[in-house]
Amino acid sequence: MRYLLPLFLVLGLLSSCQKEEQAYALALPPGFPEVELPEDNLPTALRVELGKRLFFDPILSRDSSISCGSCHFRALGFADNKVVSPGIAGRLGFRNAPILTNLIYRENFFFDGGVPNLELQVVAPIEDTAEMDFHLGGVVERLARHPEYAPLLEKAYPGKPLTFALTRAIASYERTLLSGQSAFDRYYYQGDSSALNDQEKRGWQLFQDKGCRDCHAGPNFSNEEFINIGLYADYNYNGDPGRRRVTALESDIGKFKVPSLRNIALTAPYMHDGSIQNLEEVIDFFAAGGEAHFNKSPEIQAFVLSPQEKADLIAFLESLTDWDFVQGTD
Ligand code: HEC
Ligand code: HEC
Repeated sequence: MRYLLPLFLVLGLLSSCQKEEQAYALALPPGFPEVELPEDNLPTALRVELGKRLFFDPILSRDSSISCGSCHFRALGFADNKVVSPGIAGRLGFRNAPILTNLIYRENFFFDGGVPNLELQVVAPIEDTAEMDFHLGGVVERLARHPEYAPLLEKAYPGKPLTFALTRAIASYERTLLSGQSAFDRYYYQGDSSALNDQEKRGWQLFQDKGCRDCHAGPNFSNEEFINIGLYADYNYNGDPGRRRVTALESDIGKFKVPSLRNIALTAPYMHDGSIQNLEEVIDFFAAGGEAHFNKSPEIQAFVLSPQEKADLIAFLESLTDWDFVQGTD
């Protein structure tokens, strides 16, 4: 009898280890490039599951009213439909909530690129007074006395501090948000020439001919650069000089990270400040060539579009909606 207990313990440990290490196979969409994963945060089923739970749990905000999911809705490609999103007590931030799809392919985060990786990004909304208005210490205290989170986070990241486990788990979940099953993807990446109709195909051609693809490039429709498109002649109007917030350089005033266009038809209003209401007005903006600004990209040049061409371009942008993804549940 006296040997039974240790044996059970050993078996218990073994089976818990196996579960911990159950790798999570990321379902990269067909035709999308391979990805590099951070060595200290390879996805496992438990990590992803915990990250998802934490993403939608208001426990991360000071008064337990706001979760990450309060501003990032799956049905809207993980963006929202507000100009700027209300955080705790209805407080408003100053930027439009972006989509969170295919983040695994992005190189830096926020419109100004102020955060280099997903793990670090998690801290920003928790501590932002207009979002969750809390602090990591407070979150960790809550998680430490939580009957389920504390043991599960320890199991997912054995021997690591809770701050480490929290940020890694949410980042692991975010890396699973992969969108690549739109009509356009079936056409372009999966070789189904009938997946786009003639109008959408004309729109795709215009997207290339009018230079949109020079910036909105690759599977994520972003070349990851910071660009001033001449949205304003003076970016001081609301105190958001874009990339300059990070670099302090005059030459970065008004430069914003090229946004992804995935699920773009669902994520109005548009631009970093949500100042453009719909896709038609976005196209009017680009066709007019933008305001004069000393940092404006030379690639932003006025062009002429017939009403038919404009409708074609919009039809193409609408073909980027991935219904399987936005209607999915995990
Ligand atoms: C009150 C609304 C709000 C809440 C709550 C919120 N976000 Fe966001 N999120 C935003 C806004 C607005 C931005 C754009 C900020 C910027 O560019 O400066 C953003 C940007 C991001 C980005 C960067 C995406 C990119 O492509 O650059 C990620 C990732 C993200 N949020 C994840 C989260 C996570 C994880 C949480 C919860 C811990 C969270 N958000 C909570 C509004 C919110
Ligand atoms: C020189 C680079 C460049 C070119 C060319 C360009 N864009 Fe953009 N686009 C950007 C940047 C940068 C932003 C974000 C600007 C901001 O928020 O201030 C943007 C924003 C957008 C948005 C809003 C995205 C969102 O989530 O708010 C859409 C839609 C868009 N572009 C479509 C187009 C189309 C269509 C064309 C071609 C007619 C085009 N772009 C050409 C760089 C470019």
